[in-house]
Amino acid sequence: MYTSSLVNQLKPSETLAAAAKARELRSRGIDVLEFTVGEPDFITPQHIREAAKAAMDAGHTRYTAATGIQELKQAICDAFRRDHGVSWKPSEVTVSNGAKHCLHNALVACCEPGDEVIIPTPYWVSYSALVELTGAKPVLVETAEKDGFFLSPEQFRKAITPRTRLMMLNSPSNPTGGVYPVETLRGLADVAVEKDITVLSDEIYDKLIYPGHEFRTFASFGEEVRKRTVIVNGVSKAYAMTGWRIGWTLAPENVSAAINKLQSQQTSNPCSVSQYAALAALNGPQECVSEMCREFAKRRDYVVSRLRAIPGLSFAEPGGAFYAFFNVSSYFGKPLGGGAAVLNATDFCTALLERAHVALVSGDAFGAPGYVRLSFAASMELLVRGLDAIEKFLAG
Ligand SMILES: Cc1ncc(COP(=O)(O)O)c(C=O)c1O
Repeated sequence: MYTSSLVNQLKPSETLAAAAKARELRSRGIDVLEFTVGEPDFITPQHIREAAKAAMDAGHTRYTAATGIQELKQAICDAFRRDHGVSWKPSEVTVSNGAKHCLHNALVACCEPGDEVIIPTPYWVSYSALVELTGAKPVLVETAEKDGFFLSPEQFRKAITPRTRLMMLNSPSNPTGGVYPVETLRGLADVAVEKDITVLSDEIYDKLIYPGHEFRTFASFGEEVRKRTVIVNGVSKAYAMTGWRIGWTLAPENVSAAINKLQSQQTSNPCSVSQYAALAALNGPQECVSEMCREFAKRRDYVVSRLRAIPGLSFAEPGGAFYAFFNVSSYFGKPLGGGAAVLNATDFCTALLERAHVALVSGDAFGAPGYVRLSFAASMELLVRGLDAIEKFLAG
C-alpha cells in the first residue's frame, strides 16, 4: 500500500531506537547499564499525583476546551511572570500533549514548503524531522565545542536568506547541556529583530540549571523580541511528569490563534486529568523542583569529574539539563573493550553496548559526529558502575 513520501523520508527517533536495543539485550537476561533516556528517574511528586486523583473524583474526565483549561493557561502566565518577569496573556497560550507536540504545532503553524528553518547543531533529535514534516528545509549550522556549542549572532546572521522563516533555539540544550550566556542571547535577539526572524525557543530544561549558570528566556529582551518569539515548555522535565504529556506554547496572538485552530482539528484537548496535575505542579510548592535539581547537580559533578579523568575525551561541561556530551573520536581506529576497532560514534555505541553493556546515544543522532550522549538522569549507583565500565572499555 502507498505511504507518504514525506513520512517515508523521516528517520525514526534514534534515542528511542537506542533504548529499544538496550531493552532487547535486557530481555536476554543481560544487565544493561542504560544512560539513553531523557527523563528524570523520579516519580511525580505526591501533591501532584493527589491533585490528579482529586480531579478524577471531581469528574474532570471529559473533553476540555481544545487548547487547555483557562485556569492552567492563567497559571502558566503567572509562573512565567514569577520566574522570568515577562508577561504573556492566557490568549497567547496553547496547552498540548507534551513539548514535542508543541514544537510540531508551532512549526506547522509558521512554516510552509520551501521555507528555511535554521537549526544550530548539535540539536535535539526530533528538530530536523519535525521541520521536514512541514515541507520546510532544515538549515543546519554547526557550532563548536570550544564555543560551548553556542550559535553566535554572526553565524545566525550569515545563515539567514530571504527564505528563512524561523530559528530553533534550545537552552539548556539537549544534547550538550549548554546554557546560552545572556550576552549571546541578546546578540541573537538583536539579529532576530533586525532581520525579522521568528525564534522558536525550546526552554523545556529551564528549571535544571547548575551553580555558576544563569537561565534567561529568549522572550526577556524587550517587546520587539517577545513579539518574534515562540516559547515551548512543559511539565515533563521540571516536575518529573514525562508520562502525563503536558506542554505549552507561548506565542504572539496571531501565531497562537493558528496553533489553536490546528490543534482543534488535530488532537482536541490534552488529557483533562493531566491538565489538573500540571495546574497543581505550577501553583503548588516548588521545593520538589529545587530538590531534584540539587540531586542532578551532584550527579553532574560526579560525571564531569570522571569524564575529565579519562584521557582522550573532550566536552563542554553541562550547565543545565541532564546530559554529558563528549567527543570520543580520538578512540576511533583503536581496539576497544577487547574487540575490534570502531570507526564512528554509532559504531562506538554499538560496541560499548555489546561488549560493556553500557547504553549511550550516538552523536550522529544529534548532527554531531564523533560525540556520544550520556544521560545522568540515572541513580548514582548506576552512574558509578557505568563510568567504571566505560573507562575499562576505553582502556582497550
Ligand atoms: C529539547 C527537548 N525538547 C522537547 C522535548 C519533549 O518533551 P515532552 O516529553 O514534553 O514532549 C524533549 C524531550 O526529551 C527535549 O529534550
